[in-house]
Amino acid sequence: MGMPSEPEADPAIEAQPAADNSEFSIRNLQQRIRQQELLSELGVTALHGVSLDMLLAEAARIAADGLRAQFSKVLQYLPAENRFLVRAGIGWKPGIVGHATIGADLASPAGYALRTGKPVISNHLENEQRFRTPEILRQHGIHRAMNVILQGEAKPFGVLEVDSKAEDKFVEHDLAFLQGAANVLGMAIERERHERHIKAALERQQVLLREMNHRVKNSLMIVSGLLQLQARGVGDPALGGHLEVAAQRVTAVAKAHEQLQVDGDVERMNLGKYVEAICRDLDASVAHCHIQTEADEDIEISSDRAVAVALIINELVTNAAKYAYESTTGGEIWITVRRTNNDKISISVRDEGAGLPPAVDITKPKRLGMRIVGGFVRQLNGTLEVHARQPGTEFVLTLPN
Ligand SMILES: Nc1ncnc2c1ncn2[C@@H]1O[C@H](COP(=O)(O)OP(=O)(O)O)[C@@H](O)[C@H]1O
Ligand SMILES: [Mg+2]
Repeated sequence: MGMPSEPEADPAIEAQPAADNSEFSIRNLQQRIRQQELLSELGVTALHGVSLDMLLAEAARIAADGLRAQFSKVLQYLPAENRFLVRAGIGWKPGIVGHATIGADLASPAGYALRTGKPVISNHLENEQRFRTPEILRQHGIHRAMNVILQGEAKPFGVLEVDSKAEDKFVEHDLAFLQGAANVLGMAIERERHERHIKAALERQQVLLREMNHRVKNSLMIVSGLLQLQARGVGDPALGGHLEVAAQRVTAVAKAHEQLQVDGDVERMNLGKYVEAICRDLDASVAHCHIQTEADEDIEISSDRAVAVALIINELVTNAAKYAYESTTGGEIWITVRRTNNDKISISVRDEGAGLPPAVDITKPKRLGMRIVGGFVRQLNGTLEVHARQPGTEFVLTLPN
């Protein structure tokens, strides 16, 4: 933060009469106290992280108030045009704040302050040799002006200016106040700029993440599609069936990436929505069965766990479609995803079909499907129970939260 050099040593400031103690009236003292209060008010506003426009407006108000001036403005430097925009201000005729621009060459007081980095007091603009009086000051009948640079970290944001019609004088104490306000404002502007950059970077990151998930999903869907093509092409129904099942497993994983793309989060996902999406797909692929899903809406779990759950459901539902019902008659398959009273997650897959053959023991799986299921149940630290229903079978998977 570039503090200006000591005002006393600065040729840009007109010589002030030596401070006379008898003139240092109570009124002066009160004004200094008022200025301190205003500066701390500005500090508090800046720390609250209000919008840039509000902050600039507040700084303009405080600058004018602290110097008992009718006018103040925050001039934002526009490098491309080498002009200042009146970004905020007090006292100006309508249409100036937010619209009017002022030349930023060395020949204007604000331009002088910006170029030299030094504060500028001019108590008699009409007699000024250093620079001309900008038109807008003339139009408002302004006699005296004080300008300080608004320093950003890399380059200056612009200039804070206070103007007055009254015949009184701005003195060095006034300058110290104005520079104090400009320093607080400069830091707040810098912070706001940083925050904006961080926010933009974060948004970009989110977009990339969604894009990544979209691409991963597409790639997996291509793999699944190839497996399906191959399933139809092999000419061997048993082998074709295996390839179909493999394609279905890849699709379940692909769906996870679709859900992640929707949620915009990579670590956690909404289990209910994901399971519903998987089951919609399964419903479309097993024409002879009707799959109904009911899921609590607010269950969020880590994506890895959600994918494992989806692969288990995929196996159980394909089995129900394949073994519970004859492919000619078909039937219903129910899936529920619930949070239990003791805060676990319970997932049920139920059919009203033929029932498990007595020879099948799910604790000692022999075939790939139930081995996959067993593996994921262990990975999830969960338990899987089988209940023989009259008619049909219900599998209940319970997971710690
Ligand atoms: N919902 C169900 N209804 C009837 N039988 C089932 C059901 N689920 C699984 N099974 C039986 O369990 C066996 C093991 O299933 P799985 O390990 O997935 O092997 P696969 O599906 O390759 O036969 C099946 O062959 C079937 O006999
Ligand atoms: Mg199976």
